Amino acid sequence: MWILGHRGASKAAPENTLAAFSLAFAQHAHGIELDTYQVDGQIVVIHDRWLNRTTNGTGLVTCQTLPYLMSLDAGNGERIPLLQDVFSLLPHTALFNIEIKHLHCTDSWIATVQQGIRQSGFPVENIIISSFNHRWLRSIQQAWSGVKIGALTATYPQSGLGFAEDLSAYSLHMALDVVDENYVRKAKQAGLKVLVYTVDHPQDMVMLADWGVDGIFTNVPDIAVNTLG
Ligand code: G3P
Ligand code: CA
Repeated sequence: MWILGHRGASKAAPENTLAAFSLAFAQHAHGIELDTYQVDGQIVVIHDRWLNRTTNGTGLVTCQTLPYLMSLDAGNGERIPLLQDVFSLLPHTALFNIEIKHLHCTDSWIATVQQGIRQSGFPVENIIISSFNHRWLRSIQQAWSGVKIGALTATYPQSGLGFAEDLSAYSLHMALDVVDENYVRKAKQAGLKVLVYTVDHPQDMVMLADWGVDGIFTNVPDIAVNTLG
């Protein structure tokens, strides 16, 4: 089962920082997940709309200039990374899930990601783009043929797997609180990879492995590696 560092190894290092991503790989995670906002023609890596929880800044992420965002402390002296910075530290065997929290312009978003791929040589087939905003995913898919889409949901939809099939998704990313074994079986029968978030307890890790889940997002990759081997 794939072990993805959720916002990096975010229990032990400040979330969504280069330190957290490097630590996830040092702990032998297979990949990482991160959260992104498109700001000032760049893609910045941060989870919240507001700066105050994870940085020493204030205000809405999307209302700031890039120089201001880059000047902030995101914990332990770490900076808010640009997506391009993350590409440079990824092992080329890693799985890389880019979650979109804010998209301003599809074309320039894709151009920025493709530039990161070109400059780093990271394999595009190891990237999964996900978002709770399925309209954004659809617009990216229409403009970027073949890119892997992760259908992200925090709910157990009445419509079953229809939303993931409509997106021609590669994977289903589902919350631990709502996923069950039957839904996992149906998703896998439909050809979807199933990834579950956020899984920090060893008993949940073992349960999901028994259900045949393909991957977990965890804040504690070291515990997942020890538990799952
Ligand atoms: O992508 C899985 C998970 O990260 C989605 O929830 O709030 O942690 O971004 P959140
Ligand atoms: Ca996320």
